[in-house]
Amino acid sequence: MHDDVLRELAYLRELGFTHLDLTPKAAFAGQGHHGAAATLEETVDDRPAAEAEARIAAAAITSGSPATCVTLGELRPFALDCTACRLAATRKNVVFGAGNENADLMFVGEAPGHDEDVQGEPFVGRAGQLLTDIIKAMKLTRDDVYIANVIKCRPPENRNPEPDELEACRPYIRKQVELIRPKVIVTLGRFSLQSLTGRSYAITAVRGNWLDYEGVRLMPTYHPAYLLRNPTAKKDVWSDMKKVMGELGIAF
Ligand code: URA
Repeated sequence: MHDDVLRELAYLRELGFTHLDLTPKAAFAGQGHHGAAATLEETVDDRPAAEAEARIAAAAITSGSPATCVTLGELRPFALDCTACRLAATRKNVVFGAGNENADLMFVGEAPGHDEDVQGEPFVGRAGQLLTDIIKAMKLTRDDVYIANVIKCRPPENRNPEPDELEACRPYIRKQVELIRPKVIVTLGRFSLQSLTGRSYAITAVRGNWLDYEGVRLMPTYHPAYLLRNPTAKKDVWSDMKKVMGELGIAF
């Protein structure tokens, strides 16, 4: 995008234009979130061309792609408009993520189910109620933490995400972690762990053991939906959460 803008500017300069109108209405009229090339018009604007170039390059960088976003607020519209995989065709809502953008603790789940798809919020169904209980048992609230999924759109009939869907969605969760920069990430279940890290860990082998994700402490644990089917595994998750509390300096 940045290179495209510079090429466009050089071309216009060759055509003899020396000034640009960079008011947002004129420059970005009719664009979606993904920032197609700006319409550049000759005007009587007398700002120096170098200043104009710097402004348009900056605008292009911040509106250009998920990778260049510097806040979750900037990133969210890209996800809401995303059509990178087939799940876009069947979703009701994109479930971007929710909670404290400055959280020390981030929970990363798999994909929205029916309730999340309808409400546009992560973990609001039965598994979500159990996750809320786990968070409360850790002496925290949902507003203290950030909750997101590795897949932002519901797979039909809650089927497992396909590898290409995980691949298409991975930039969003990785960017969310980069922007929130939590002290600890808890991955819930296999897909979340494998997709975030890009490694084929076996959840039963690594659960309860600290891993490193880009310099952030990562605790893999079971998914709450698994706990609904296998309540005896709750003690394992509680043991994992006590490690997380210890890391965050929360007494238990
Ligand atoms: N399961 C998940 O992994 N994520 C949700 O948001 C809900 C259920």
